[in-house]
Amino acid sequence: MSNETPDVILIISIGTLLFLLLAGFITLLLVLYKQRYKAHQQQLITVQEVYQRELLQSQLEIQNQTLQQVANDLHDNIGQLLTVVIMRLNALEDEVVEPDHQQSVQQTRDLVRTIIADVRTLSKTLDHDTVRRFGLIPSLTLELERIQRIGHINTQFTTLGEPYSLSEQMETVLLRMTQESLNNALKHAKAKNLHIIANFKAEDTFMLAIIDDGRGFNVQEATSRSLNESGAGLSNLYRRAEMLGGICTILSQPDAGTRVEIRVPRS
Ligand SMILES: Nc1ncnc2c1ncn2[C@@H]1O[C@H](COP(=O)(O)OP(=O)(O)OP(=O)(O)O)[C@@H](O)[C@H]1O
Ligand SMILES: [Mg+2]
Repeated sequence: MSNETPDVILIISIGTLLFLLLAGFITLLLVLYKQRYKAHQQQLITVQEVYQRELLQSQLEIQNQTLQQVANDLHDNIGQLLTVVIMRLNALEDEVVEPDHQQSVQQTRDLVRTIIADVRTLSKTLDHDTVRRFGLIPSLTLELERIQRIGHINTQFTTLGEPYSLSEQMETVLLRMTQESLNNALKHAKAKNLHIIANFKAEDTFMLAIIDDGRGFNVQEATSRSLNESGAGLSNLYRRAEMLGGICTILSQPDAGTRVEIRVPRS
């Protein structure tokens, strides 16, 4: 009996040791599996993020190319045709003798000249080369001047802090986002005043605000509309801000105007 006790103790010890080793091994396997699972999930998220970014990037490139084409066509075709109209009107002015008719021809010519100037400005603001060559602030100023001229609407541009340049891609995206917000204000808001604020004051964030004093809207309702009824503008604003590593906030209420705020990192 006394001989058997150490054996039993030995067997129990070895058994416990084996059990502990097995438990340790299983725990290690579980930890490894969890780590791999996490790494795999992380990889999936990264792939999805890269895919989304590339998708937006290519959408942006297609949009830029299309707008560039429209800008070129406006400048080359419509601009030149309107110049021909001016030349015809010049010839007509020499032909007509009655002062009343002459005056009508002159008025028509003035009108066509205004259209030529507007087409030129529009073609510049659509052309993404303008942002590349002249920068964001002059492009935004040009856009507001154009709207002020054609839209019977008051516009104001405010710069806060010391302006600096952002990357070319960022400035192009910010211009397109501003154009969408201004377009919305013109299309939906019935606003009397439009105001853009470019705020360079914060150390690491650039902030752009597009404000109208129009009729406002329910943002949540507008962003949760069904496919048929929803527009692409607002969702594009959110996605593009995200693509730039920033955030877009739309503040609006019925009868209280709209404020679109875009914040992007400075670097
Ligand atoms: N500044 C604004 N003032 C008043 N309502 C607005 C304003 N901006 C947007 N909205 C409302 O939000 C809706 C969604 O805007 P969104 O830009 O997504 O679409 P859209 O302008 O109708 O179409 P799209 O931009 O695709 O041409 C608009 O239909 C309008 O009702
Ligand atoms: Mg829109």
